[in-house]
Amino acid sequence: MADEKREQTPQEKADAAKAVADQDKAAAAGVELVNLVVDGAPVAVPKGTLVIEAAFRAGSDVPYFCYHPRLTSVGACRMCLASVELEMFGQRRASIMATCTIPCSEGMVVKTQTPEVKKAQNGILELLLANHPLDCPICDRGGECPLQNMTISYGPPTSRYTEEKRHYPKAKPISDYVVLDRERCITCMRCTRFADEIAGDGKLDLINRGAQTEIGPFMGASFDSNFSGNTIEICPVGALTSRQFRFKGRPWEVKSVDSVCSKCGNGCNIAVGHRLGELVRINARTNEEINEEWTCDRGKFGHAYVNSEERLTTPLIRDMDGKLQPASWDAALTKIVEALKHYKPEQIGGIGSTRATLEDNYLFAKLLKGAIGTAHVGHQMHPYPLIPMQTSIAELESAKKIISVGMKLEDDQPIVYLRVHKARSKKGASWVQAATVAEAIESLSEGAVLLLPHTLSEADYAAAQAACAEKSAKLNILLPDANSWGAVKAGVTGGELAQILSGNLKMLYILGSDPVVRYHDPAKAREAVAKAEFVVVQELFLTETAKLASVVLPAASFAEKDGTFVNIEGREQKIKQAIAPRGDSRPDWRILADLLARLGKAQPYFSARDIYREWEKAQG
Ligand code: SF4
Ligand code: SF4
Ligand code: FES
Repeated sequence: MADEKREQTPQEKADAAKAVADQDKAAAAGVELVNLVVDGAPVAVPKGTLVIEAAFRAGSDVPYFCYHPRLTSVGACRMCLASVELEMFGQRRASIMATCTIPCSEGMVVKTQTPEVKKAQNGILELLLANHPLDCPICDRGGECPLQNMTISYGPPTSRYTEEKRHYPKAKPISDYVVLDRERCITCMRCTRFADEIAGDGKLDLINRGAQTEIGPFMGASFDSNFSGNTIEICPVGALTSRQFRFKGRPWEVKSVDSVCSKCGNGCNIAVGHRLGELVRINARTNEEINEEWTCDRGKFGHAYVNSEERLTTPLIRDMDGKLQPASWDAALTKIVEALKHYKPEQIGGIGSTRATLEDNYLFAKLLKGAIGTAHVGHQMHPYPLIPMQTSIAELESAKKIISVGMKLEDDQPIVYLRVHKARSKKGASWVQAATVAEAIESLSEGAVLLLPHTLSEADYAAAQAACAEKSAKLNILLPDANSWGAVKAGVTGGELAQILSGNLKMLYILGSDPVVRYHDPAKAREAVAKAEFVVVQELFLTETAKLASVVLPAASFAEKDGTFVNIEGREQKIKQAIAPRGDSRPDWRILADLLARLGKAQPYFSARDIYREWEKAQG
């Protein structure tokens, strides 16, 4: 056991910061304070604060496994022991207690560092390790494992247990994404509480009793949850690990870059883990305004496309036989410039991207609207009114009544769903899931929050808008992609896709978009793209639209470039380059800057930051 003060892990610091922030919020809201002494320091905390959380405020070091600041306390692991002196049965007495289960009371005296406390913590670790396998060298959690860390700081150097450890079959897949190693589980119930309280699907549960207790999918089913990946991150041991990340690298070999998820418009903050030039894992980063500390499974596991062998790695030009053939960047860009000069501006149309960055879209608009002079530039695969959300993601959890129309919220807007679930389960809000706008309007009451998809009719949006204005309800149209709002802010607007895909334009330039699949009338889009004389597609993959193109340009993924995404709330957030672009692919903005230069409109863009500054200045 080390005598000097232990350096806490970033996760422990984040947990403590969250607990202290919650106390500050409660105190600011007027919750009565109680006074206690922790390790000799006087502390005042709001009534209801747990002793472990008061210890965090005092800066004391209390080890823990099952405690989590966002989950209810269950006292499952007994690791957070401390000496707690309080008034009991008319007498003051001190006992060793699990501090995550005891609310603070006036006059308490807490000691976290006495020899008795250390001995008790040591004993708990010896017990927890009695059945825990010596897997650290082959465990994905090794190197960032709370059990490993606590054992080094608080555990016994040897064990008195000589009996055979409990054995289960190793590495049991419990879903497409998660592997369970039951031997490593310390039954802390973090994962089961997460499934129950945060995801609200209860897809993991405790099975059996006593020493045979284990966790598993409810009633033997698969752990099919939209949020299963979070359990991997909060499991304090290597019992739940990622099938994707399994054996891809030791945690200390994985470098992390702060970024933003590219898979929907919620804008979850993530850390992109990479090793040897490959994206190997996505972990959540805390942002209390958006994703708290969670991601959905689409965000956590859906970025494998970045490493795909199917990625485009070189420009392609359609040859005389109608086949797309690899070409040099110079040949491809020369051909595009010739076409841009050949057609009249009104014969050219551009479709921007709701998944490319603000900077990419800004240069796209600058090229087509500014340099070429066409008005046919748009991006909406389905027309929807551009009305900013009237309720932020964080505010959703304080709504009293939430009405959603026609979406499967946990799939379509996962983090919005988690807030709605929180409002319902923790704050008693009601959630009406209406099939139609008419049904939603019937339920609308003053102050209610209305959540609409982006795929309704013009008449439905008009009716919803009028009803919300009349009832002082909050209208929120939830846009679909990581940068749906960014495309708008960048100016990829003015033209409607109904016109651009009418079949009347001779040249189409399509940036990071697949209208042949995603346009609300795919057959119409296919016909228009096939009919155009010259089509440029800038993409990661040979999509259905790219297959019809005259020139295809390979674009870098979100992990291979810098830029800005604007989430459904209109919040700007930076994505950062983690790895080099695959093959000969390039960031979209770089390709567009090159084209602008070839058209004689050269600008000194050395980075996405330069473009952002220009865009920012243009906003006035
Ligand atoms: S699997 Fe992990 S999170 Fe779940 S109970 Fe076991 S140790 Fe705790
Ligand atoms: S909710 Fe959206 S932004 Fe968040 S992790 Fe999932 S896909 Fe990504
Ligand atoms: S952390 Fe307190 S009992 Fe587990």
